[in-house]
Amino acid sequence: MSTSSSTTLETIASLCKRRGFVYQSADIYGSLNGVYDYGHLGVIMKDNIKKAWKRSINQIEGAILFFDGALLGPQAVWEASGHVQHFHDPLVDCMHCKKRYRADDVDLHKPCPHCGITKWTDVRQFNMMFKTHAGALADHGSTAYLRPETAQSIFANFKNIVSSNRVKLPFGVAQIGKAFRNEITPKQFLFRMREFEQMELEWFCEDKAADHFFEQWIALRQSFYTAIGITPVHIRLHPHSPTELAHYSKQCTDIEYQFPFGFRELEGIADRGIFDLSQHTQHSGKDLSMFNDIANTTVMPHIIECSVGVDRLFIAILFEAYTQDTLGGEERIVLRLHPSIAPIKAAFLPLTKKISEPMLRIYTNIKKELAPYDYHVEFDDSGSIGKRYRRHDEIGTPFCFTYDFESEQDEQVTVRDRDTLKQERIAFENIQSYIHNKIR
Ligand code: GAP
Repeated sequence: MSTSSSTTLETIASLCKRRGFVYQSADIYGSLNGVYDYGHLGVIMKDNIKKAWKRSINQIEGAILFFDGALLGPQAVWEASGHVQHFHDPLVDCMHCKKRYRADDVDLHKPCPHCGITKWTDVRQFNMMFKTHAGALADHGSTAYLRPETAQSIFANFKNIVSSNRVKLPFGVAQIGKAFRNEITPKQFLFRMREFEQMELEWFCEDKAADHFFEQWIALRQSFYTAIGITPVHIRLHPHSPTELAHYSKQCTDIEYQFPFGFRELEGIADRGIFDLSQHTQHSGKDLSMFNDIANTTVMPHIIECSVGVDRLFIAILFEAYTQDTLGGEERIVLRLHPSIAPIKAAFLPLTKKISEPMLRIYTNIKKELAPYDYHVEFDDSGSIGKRYRRHDEIGTPFCFTYDFESEQDEQVTVRDRDTLKQERIAFENIQSYIHNKIR
């Protein structure tokens, strides 16, 4: 049986394309590097990941508010946040073959990995924000940027959020949305993209409680990953050394996942201190401190941030779930996805086309009943039953219900478990509760 550590990126990317999870964007035009489109199953699975994240952040005492900020932001926001000055990656070119690298990805004492010649340019700093102009006039005043992180829109709108929601410290503001980074070398499929999605939680608290919440959030975020099916040993913590800290960060711990190319950051938990709100107060001239009625004074809230990339988590989950084994002498690919993450919760399969109709009726009823829970189910009567099982194993469907020639008499179907392959008979009337209990 092969599992995550021996699975390659190519295997996952090929499964994603074959089964309609993820495609290279604008494929027919040669595509754009680091930009991807999600297909039917990918959209549903990504949505399940987001729902699981939303549920998980609400486990803490204190209000969680939701926010959906604009993708474009004026220059002033990014001046205040420090991104115009600091959001750089070191860039180096090979003067011989013109290949471009992030300077920390290559050893400049050694030859270019592409052409084998040692002829490097000096290392330059490259700002990773996508710059554009809002409106017809491309002057300094119209400069805008696509956001490189979702967080800043929460900080820039903090005054409105606080005054319209009657919240008291501590509380959180959560946002799921696109971020854009002009990565020098986008790579490893969904791992490093130029357009991606983040799930960010900004937790506002008093200074004196910051260390306590920093530790609490690290523990809560770790437990989220095990709850959605990641093996605990595939996760580790990486506390940042002072030289690794981002310009806004006082302390930071990454949650890393063991990808086949090594342990890499999945989520960053950062203590941003009062950096962001102080910067926006200073640059906008609007006071972003809050009144604390217990202390009867105003305080500048301290921020603990939990930030994870949806796409990076998506691919980590696929690595975790991908398994190859042999069944009756035949090779089988199985995505052992947690039922809450699996895009299709159950498949309804008549044994042959001749008995499609009664199964279609059962499927149509269950589909309607499960729609309010946003559980997707599928009906499939094409091809051999073996082939249909294989397809559903490969897209991670946890349960397949089969209607056979006895079903009409005993009013039961056979349910097959994707992981154990155990089969049992259950009554038509119990199908819905079976799915519910298993997913919970
Ligand atoms: N607001 C803080 C922030 O943006 P970050 O460590 O730069 O911090 C947070 O990014 C998360 O976003 C990362 O842990 C990663 O999961 C995801 N991420 C960052 N850059 C990415 C990229 N180019 N492609 C895909 N995901 C990315």
